[in-house]
Amino acid sequence: MAQSATAFAPASIGNLAVGFDMLGLALDGVGDRVRAERTATAGVSITEVRGLDGELHAYLPNEPDKNTASIAAQAFWDEHGDGGGVALSIFKGVPLQSGMGSSAASAVAAVVAVNALLAAPLPVTELLPYALEGEKFASGGMHADNVAPSLLGGMVFCPSNLLPDMLQLPVPEGVSAVLIHPELQVNTAASRRGLAATVSREAWLEQQACFGGFIAACAANDHKLIRRTLKDVIIEPQRAAAVSCFPAVRDAAMQAGAFGCSLSGSGPSIFALVAEAQAANVADVMTASCRGQGIDCQSWVSSLEAPGAFIES
Ligand code: HSE
Repeated sequence: MAQSATAFAPASIGNLAVGFDMLGLALDGVGDRVRAERTATAGVSITEVRGLDGELHAYLPNEPDKNTASIAAQAFWDEHGDGGGVALSIFKGVPLQSGMGSSAASAVAAVVAVNALLAAPLPVTELLPYALEGEKFASGGMHADNVAPSLLGGMVFCPSNLLPDMLQLPVPEGVSAVLIHPELQVNTAASRRGLAATVSREAWLEQQACFGGFIAACAANDHKLIRRTLKDVIIEPQRAAAVSCFPAVRDAAMQAGAFGCSLSGSGPSIFALVAEAQAANVADVMTASCRGQGIDCQSWVSSLEAPGAFIES
């Protein structure tokens, strides 16, 4: 039986424009890391939370009932643990309140690490409900569009009414995701509270068409249809005003040839899907547009088949 394990879980793009709360994409090269270590004291505790700079995290507390990683790990340990204790060390690579699935990445990495301490670890697909407990604490809703791709990798369909079932979907060839993270913060729970409870039939019909068309276009490798369907006519218009740089960044991405561009999750991060050969240029123009508006940002270019969470050691 392992005494310790370290897991990495990637950041993710929630909603992916077309599928509010039910579609998400894992991102390459950015994520959270959690080390789980057996201890003599029963229950789940946090040893430390550190940022990318290696320093103790300025905002995240060590209290286990206030961190998505420990909440998720506790939910898992309550059902599958052996009565012993687990101490977590959390290394945040995903910026907070960024729309990059930061809370989900911590929760997923924690559950994957703690699972690896068991004599007979569960299959990864069975870990979703526990990671979701952490997400519920952070965002105030039971949506899996960050947790599911962070766990499985790639593009995942995970509507709340079908959970814990989730489905990794085929992705088109030759397409990359570009994401920029403007140095702003959006609180997901507050953003969700601000959304209208109802939607017009016209908007619903258009979004249904975009969702179905986009999924079909990805499976058929039809880049033209991706371009026509990658949009959000319901949620994005309600959130755009909270991200002042968004309209100009989106225009810059589209002019540079992106298939579509929208908010990542509740923002402020902004993503675009784009032909692989144009991804670096689109990342550059989105970055330049954001900085040109006086807001610094970071950018990433990712495959659509980024791996999900894994054990590093
Ligand atoms: N689907 C969630 C939302 C994702 O848009 O509120 C949050 O990152």
